[in-house]
Amino acid sequence: MPHEPDPPPAKRFKPGSPFFRLDKRPGGMLLPRASHAPTSLDVQRKQLPIYQARTQLINQLRQLHNAVLIGETGSGKTTQIPQYLYEAGIGRQGVIAVTQPRRVAALSLAGRVAEEKRVQLGKLVGYTVRFEDVTSSETKLKFMTDGMLLREAIGDPLLLRYTVVILDEAHERTVHTDVLFGVVKTAQRKRTEQNKVPLKVLVMSATMDVDLFSQYFNKSPVLYLEGRQHPIQIYYTKRPQSDYLQAALVSIFQIHQEAPPSHDILVFMTGQEEIEALARTCRDIAKHLPDTCVPMTVIPLYASLPPTQQLRVFQPTPKGSRKVVLSTNIAETSITISGIKYVIDTGMVKAKRYNPDSGLEVLAVQRVSKAQAWQRAGRAGREDAGFCYRLYTEEEFDNLANMTVPEIQRCNLASVVLQLLALGVPDVLNFDFMSKPSPESLRMAVEQLYILGAVEKKDEQVLLTPLGKNMACLPLEPRFSKTVLMSPDFSCTEEVLTIISLLSVDSVLYNPPARRDDVLAVRKKFISSEGDHMTLLNIYRAFRKVSGNKDWCRENFVNSRNMGLVSEVRAQLKDICIKMNMKMESSQSDLANVRRCLAHGLFMNAAELQLDGSYVALDTHQTVAIHPSSVLFQAKPAYVVFNELLHTTRCYMRDLCLVDSDWLHEAAPEYFRRKLRASRS
Ligand code: CDP
Ligand code: MG
Repeated sequence: MPHEPDPPPAKRFKPGSPFFRLDKRPGGMLLPRASHAPTSLDVQRKQLPIYQARTQLINQLRQLHNAVLIGETGSGKTTQIPQYLYEAGIGRQGVIAVTQPRRVAALSLAGRVAEEKRVQLGKLVGYTVRFEDVTSSETKLKFMTDGMLLREAIGDPLLLRYTVVILDEAHERTVHTDVLFGVVKTAQRKRTEQNKVPLKVLVMSATMDVDLFSQYFNKSPVLYLEGRQHPIQIYYTKRPQSDYLQAALVSIFQIHQEAPPSHDILVFMTGQEEIEALARTCRDIAKHLPDTCVPMTVIPLYASLPPTQQLRVFQPTPKGSRKVVLSTNIAETSITISGIKYVIDTGMVKAKRYNPDSGLEVLAVQRVSKAQAWQRAGRAGREDAGFCYRLYTEEEFDNLANMTVPEIQRCNLASVVLQLLALGVPDVLNFDFMSKPSPESLRMAVEQLYILGAVEKKDEQVLLTPLGKNMACLPLEPRFSKTVLMSPDFSCTEEVLTIISLLSVDSVLYNPPARRDDVLAVRKKFISSEGDHMTLLNIYRAFRKVSGNKDWCRENFVNSRNMGLVSEVRAQLKDICIKMNMKMESSQSDLANVRRCLAHGLFMNAAELQLDGSYVALDTHQTVAIHPSSVLFQAKPAYVVFNELLHTTRCYMRDLCLVDSDWLHEAAPEYFRRKLRASRS
């Protein structure tokens, strides 16, 4: 039904919106970018707000075992504190670790600090992220994802290689950060008890619930850093927006047409697909604007973007061109983009949500918290006074939750419990979490590990089985570890390693929307009626056949860099498997065995076709649908297993594999007997 188009949001902004006030300066279109004269790195270091506090900080940190450090984003915490400690000789006996929730942050920060110290990355300064280790015996300042430090703790629970652990971006409260809090706290206590070299623990963030952190870390003192925050004018919409993407688009172009070209725009959105779609629309519109308008450089930013492309946001745009960064919440805190004057906040974020009653973990687009909204707004005031356009009403803002619920309280905990058991934590249910997950979700996680065969229960105690111990050795989710470990039974370890590696990196498929028909045409030859996993396997095999030829990749819309990563990941997983004495066999052309093996690992993510053509997830009895991106979208197989659920307008299964119902029963007879009984009752 045709409906009246919404009036442009500018009319709904509060009166006094700069949309109407911004003067178009004569000839102002090509104003040079202000305050970007190149300064040497040393000078830049000394200009950071944190530099003023350097001596005082060093003196305090020398004394303290625990400290919480708060300071505005961009004040220099992450890049400077590790250097200050090192330069002052604090923790020289070992390594100073700086943890980051995000890979891209670990990479770019290590790069920056190496540059500042004028050393080659991987020597004094290095980084470790999953499947990539750029460190050496010389490395003293080590940036790493919190997941990596956690993994190291399995082999070294006291973290003896480290003298200082800096838990950075602590407010993010990813599940790994939260578990790490407990692990680091325990290591610190035990090292003191055992008269070992003490461990200094520093918690850093731009915003956080200070009392909670201070309390948890032995009532540690809180050090406040004075930042440079310029005033930011906040604008709300007058009425709620039914379509935040449309509202964002209109806002971008209003600012674009009216603001001086040196004023860059940062838009907070929820994920890759909508970011790429909006980027395309913006570029199209920008092309058709009159010549009097400055050119626009649109830069997408999201976690699954290849790192080289992620780093584009830091590079200067062509002179006289406006930078418009379309980002997920990745730009909220961990990275600083210069030149941002305008922030457009859609008020939305994609995050995990978990319902322990139904056992369902979904990625869903939801409202941000107030803390997030303030953090987003803050990005506009880094270098000068700025503006933040919230694409929601003031009343909607007032109704937002104050703080984001930590991930550990809204995700499936199977991985966490497996790791804690591997760390030797005796009583997982009573682990010293900063924010306790519900007992129900912990029990559920134990139950899932039990169904996977990773744990057994003995006199109220939960113990790892030999399979569980092996599962914890693989840096994968439990169900994927199980799939790998089951593969020798089906003589298809080579294929399973390939598939799991393909699932462990960002997409190897390149889907430029403007060339959708070409993509569909060339991809046809790889498509397997057995599902997405088999299709990916076909693509990988073809890629290997041409030895990763770049032209082949281009012609076939395959991301050659990510494919290269797949080979690296695969080699590392294979190493671990060989160390565990696993037999390496290939099932060659017999893919049924590979699917059977997937059924044995992913059976908890199985769905069954119903008479009315819909699907029901067997574990939760929830109605689900095949995601349009799946090669099985047009097909209606009776049974499938899938990788994950994505909740947008409906609950979609992504990455599907066709399976036999017999295989599911064979994989977990007791579980399916129970499930089917439950579904009938
Ligand atoms: O951790 P915090 O947000 O306090 O600041 P930081 O990450 O240490 O960054 C301090 C400054 O270093 C930023 O404002 C940037 O100017 C610069 N920086 C950079 O140019 N490139 C990076 N990859 C990281 C930081
Ligand atoms: Mg930082």
